[in-house]
Amino acid sequence: MAIIRKLAITQFRNLNQQYIEPGKQLNLFIADNAQGKTSLIEAIYYLGHNRSFKTKSLKELIELDQQKFQLDAQVDNYRVKLEKSKQKTNINIDQSRLKNSSELSKILPIQIITPDKGFIVNGTPKNKRSYLDWGVFHVEPNFLLNFKNYNKALKNINTLLSQQKQQELDYWFLEISKLSVNINQSRINYIEQLKNTNSSELIQELSGLFDTIDSFNYEFKSGWPKEVNAFDSDSVYQYLLKNKPFLLKAKYLNYGPHKASLTFFLNEKEECFLSRGEQKTLSIIFWLTQVSMLVKNNIYPIVLIDDISSELDTTKIKTILHYLNHLNVQTFMTDIGKDLSFIKDENPTIFKINKGVITTQ
Ligand SMILES: Nc1ncnc2c1ncn2[C@@H]1O[C@H](COP(=O)(O)OP(=O)(O)OP(=O)(O)O)[C@@H](O)[C@H]1O
Ligand SMILES: [Mg+2]
Repeated sequence: MAIIRKLAITQFRNLNQQYIEPGKQLNLFIADNAQGKTSLIEAIYYLGHNRSFKTKSLKELIELDQQKFQLDAQVDNYRVKLEKSKQKTNINIDQSRLKNSSELSKILPIQIITPDKGFIVNGTPKNKRSYLDWGVFHVEPNFLLNFKNYNKALKNINTLLSQQKQQELDYWFLEISKLSVNINQSRINYIEQLKNTNSSELIQELSGLFDTIDSFNYEFKSGWPKEVNAFDSDSVYQYLLKNKPFLLKAKYLNYGPHKASLTFFLNEKEECFLSRGEQKTLSIIFWLTQVSMLVKNNIYPIVLIDDISSELDTTKIKTILHYLNHLNVQTFMTDIGKDLSFIKDENPTIFKINKGVITTQ
C-alpha cells in the first residue's frame, strides 16, 4: 500500500524548504493563486515518475537562483530520495542507488487528475496512451521490457528508412511485429480488466457524477490499419513487407502501438461531440476506474488532484472524495478553498500554503 508518511521538499519551484507529515487518506492543501499548490502536486508527481507533467526543462523546476532540488520521502517503509541538478541525477531507495525510474514508479504509483495534464476524454492520443500505459505497466509484468524493446526497434527502423537502407529492415520488421503483438495483447488484457471493474457497483457509488449519464464506453485502436490483425505477428510482418516501398518514401513508420488510441463514448455519442463538462466527468470516471482496478490488484496508488473546484461542482467533488476514501487510497488535493466545509465529512488532514510555506491547520 503506497502511503507517503513524510515528505521533505527542497528548492523545488517556489517551495524552498518544506517538510510535511501527510495523513493516510485525504490531504487537502488550501491556498490562493500563485502560492505553490501546483508546485506541491508537481513535486509529488516528480518523485513517482522522475519527470514533470508540466515541463521538460529542469531549469524551470529548480528554485530561481539555486543549483539543484531535492525530494525526500518515506513511502511505506522505504526511504526515497531524488536529487537533481544540471550535472547529475541521484535516485536512492534506502541508500541504494537506482539506475532507472521504473522501480520508483512501482514504490510510488501515482494517478493524477489535473487540468495541466489535460483530460483523457477528447485528449490527444499521446495523453491517452500515457494514462492507459501507466495502468498497463502496473499490472502486466512484461510490459515495460516489451515497450522499451519496441521503441528501440522503432528507432532502428526509422533510421534505416530515412537512410534508405533496405538490408536490415526485414530483421527489424520481424522484431517489431512480435513486440507489437505483445504490447497490443497487454493493453487489451488491461482494458478487459478495466471493463470488468466498471461494474454496476462502481457506477452505483459514482452516481453523484452521472446525472444524465446512461452508458459509458471506450474503444481501443491498436495503431495499425484495419487490414492488419494486431494479434498476429505474421499479419503485422506481412503488412510491413508489402508496404516497404511506401515506408521508404515516407521515411518513417507511422503505424503501430506508438500510434494506438482510445475513443470514448457517452450514450453512444463519440467524445468529440460531448460538452466540456461531460468530457471532464468521463475522464474522472475512467481514472477512478483505473484506481479501483489497481486496488483490486492490491496496488494502492496515490491520487493527486490539483485545483479541484475550478473544474467540478460540490456534488461531484464530494462523490469523488468519498469514493477515494472508501478505496482507502492516499489523496493529495489542492484548492483555492472558498467553501470546502462539505469536505469535512471525509475527515481531511488540512494544510495551508502561503508564498511557498506549508503549514498544518
Ligand atoms: N523555479 C521557480 N522558482 C521560484 N518560483 C517559481 C518557480 N517556478 C514557478 N514559481 C512560482 O511559484 C509560484 C507558485 O506557483 P504554482 O503554480 O504552484 O501556484 P498555484 O498555487 O498552483 O497557483 P494557481 O492557483 O494560480 O494555479 C508562482 O508565483 C510561480 O511563478
Ligand atoms: Mg495551480
